[in-house]
Amino acid sequence: MEDEPIGPHKRRVRYKGTHPRSFSEKYKELDSERYPGEIEKVKARGATPAGDHLSICVGEVLEILDPRPGESVVDATLGHGGHSAELLKAISPGGRLYGLDRDPVEIAKTEARLRAAGYGPESFVAVRMNFSELGSLFPIGGIDGVDMLLADLGVSSMQIDDPERGFTFKHDGPLDMRMDPDGGRSAAELLLDIPEAALRELIDEYSDEPEARVIARVLTQRRGTIDTTAALRNAVRYAVEDRVGSEDLTRKAIRRTFQALRIAVNGELDALDSLLAALPRCLNPGGRAAILCFHSGEESRVERSFREGVASGAYGSMSSEAVRASPGERRDNPRSSSARLLWARKSLGDR
Ligand SMILES: C[S@@+](CC[C@H](N)C(=O)[O-])C[C@H]1O[C@@H](n2cnc3c(N)ncnc32)[C@H](O)[C@@H]1O
Repeated sequence: MEDEPIGPHKRRVRYKGTHPRSFSEKYKELDSERYPGEIEKVKARGATPAGDHLSICVGEVLEILDPRPGESVVDATLGHGGHSAELLKAISPGGRLYGLDRDPVEIAKTEARLRAAGYGPESFVAVRMNFSELGSLFPIGGIDGVDMLLADLGVSSMQIDDPERGFTFKHDGPLDMRMDPDGGRSAAELLLDIPEAALRELIDEYSDEPEARVIARVLTQRRGTIDTTAALRNAVRYAVEDRVGSEDLTRKAIRRTFQALRIAVNGELDALDSLLAALPRCLNPGGRAAILCFHSGEESRVERSFREGVASGAYGSMSSEAVRASPGERRDNPRSSSARLLWARKSLGDR
């Protein structure tokens, strides 16, 4: 039986068959106050509730960063605040965490949640910014660097699950994909004038999609008509379906094309390069950095930067190989399957 909503009585929204008319009708777990217990039910099915985010490799991140009371942290990708909440517990009392995010919608909600959990401005500071500007964050609060930095790259489940943001091919919505909707061009705008060869390169480089050539061709032929997630999904399906010969490979091509466009729209790899360039001087002596990567473009950049940092003496040590989510976590949270966690540490004597 479904949980009855609490609060003032309103006529129950009637579902129309299996296709609710709006996102809010479908995802009752987004309204946890009116539908208590809905989140637990969804989690029990092994899924991530819409509007929620299961933080990945939390134990592994804590083991690597080894946070202590009184220490300082930058969480460069605050998201739902799951990692931050654990880090805040570990650095209390006396520590301070700066939570960065470029998403104005989600950062406001997460700040409110962490404040409600008892973290005042002395221990938690929310900073709406692109982490590409990490170098310009300091000095902040009288300090020139922090003891730890975490970056959990990509987008959160909340962003993906909201069709209005245009990240998902599973529901129709405007083809936006901007983490910061106040700036830059949407995916629909990008598709309006990108040359076919550049589009092909982008899909190939940012998602390793083997059918990048035909996908770029069809998206170019349909230029001007692809302004919704459904239009993009249908175009990719049309391009690859007969060639790849299976629904599984067709869906992979759709997922990869969405990923490639998202990376391009948000300049994700350039932002990562800037973060990695600024990182050593933003860490205190003995400082630790942990970065959760989700595709080869991210992992190779982080690996290279850490390796060069060790060679130049900017770091004292780094991960010998990427840490993966445990088999249990991969089973319970499929989004963790592609995670690769890399770390670097500055020597105690380094500034
Ligand atoms: C995977 S989620 C982080 C989830 C978080 N670790 C948690 O436990 O809830 C990534 C978040 O980083 C943000 N983000 C991605 N790239 C960013 C950038 N260049 N600058 C600032 N925030 C960014 C996204 O908006 C998103 O909220």
